Amino acid sequence: MLTLGIETSCDETGVALVRDGRLLGQKLASQVDVHALFGGVVPEIASREHQKLLPGLLHALLQETGAELEDVDGIAVARGPGLLGALLVGVSFAKGLSLSTGAPLVGVNHLWAHLLAPGLEDELLFPALGLLVSGGHTHIYHVASPTQFTLLGRTLDDAAGEAFDKVAKQLNFPYPGGRYIDELACGTPPDARMLPVPYVDNDNLDFSFSGLKTAVANYVARHPQLAFEHMVGAEVLEREADPGLRLLCASFNHTVAETLRIKVERALDRTEDVRSLIVAGGVAANSELRRVMSGVGRSRQLHVTLPALRLCTDNGAMIAHAGQQLLQAGLRHDLSLEAVPRGRTVPLDWC
Ligand code: KG4
Ligand code: ZN
Repeated sequence: MLTLGIETSCDETGVALVRDGRLLGQKLASQVDVHALFGGVVPEIASREHQKLLPGLLHALLQETGAELEDVDGIAVARGPGLLGALLVGVSFAKGLSLSTGAPLVGVNHLWAHLLAPGLEDELLFPALGLLVSGGHTHIYHVASPTQFTLLGRTLDDAAGEAFDKVAKQLNFPYPGGRYIDELACGTPPDARMLPVPYVDNDNLDFSFSGLKTAVANYVARHPQLAFEHMVGAEVLEREADPGLRLLCASFNHTVAETLRIKVERALDRTEDVRSLIVAGGVAANSELRRVMSGVGRSRQLHVTLPALRLCTDNGAMIAHAGQQLLQAGLRHDLSLEAVPRGRTVPLDWC
């Protein structure tokens, strides 16, 4: 089965072809540089960029793989959650392709796709506990199978990636700053008492990162020399970051990873049938989080799946892969498929 995947939920435009669970090829265009000028994603610009880029990327993908549109057995598209205008571009494009080729259409939950993405390279063991940590979401799921997800916990305010990016912005790092915090943290032992581990003295599996962001703001207010005066480039950052700034980054990295560990271990204590832990989304690229989650696996003798770095952030391959599994399970949508904005639950409305 050959499935085309289309991703336009935020600021990456992605298309990919997956054949029988293996990636045949993909094209990805990042808009990061465009949005960096504004210090965050501008929804209107994101939609326009997707509309401009999608046809060319699809053409290049078909040329590179030698596939014809007529060979495609299914069209999978990210239908949410995400920026509504951006999603509408991908969903409309997918509907047009489905209409013209006759290939069935399936809308894919972007968050499920992140968690299934490592399945392109590794065998995933189900039932699994899924930790999805991205710029927009921090969710814990029980994943019974590639088409059965139950939400166990979620962030009540900022997502983990959002917390990274907002802290980086306070320090005048380049946008999006999560990876720069991680890079500066490397090689510096954290001060585990510098920042409070947020929202863990309770009995639930939810997250709240806004207090941590404020704690960093207060720390920076007491140590104003830590923040750069203006936004700096990556080279300046690496060259001029002093030990105090590296310590703050290492301590922030540690505190986020520790928060996620505590809730993941709590979820594991409450679920008996789980055979593996899958960590996915952009923040799954974080070196401290990968180290801590590998440790959880070792201490519990649980298989931990951490996607290759290129599969952590948004891409079309994960949409094609997740969509293929939905289609194989007999699940598809008709042309009335709706896009779902961030904050609303993606319905299970297959036909
Ligand atoms: O999953 P993703 O590509 O997009 C969304 O669906 O949100 O995640 C992007 C997020 C950004 O917040 C980015 O700063 C963060 O992932 N990120 C990282 C790292 N690499 C990317 N955060 C911490 N450490 C990293 N190494
Ligand atoms: Zn994402």
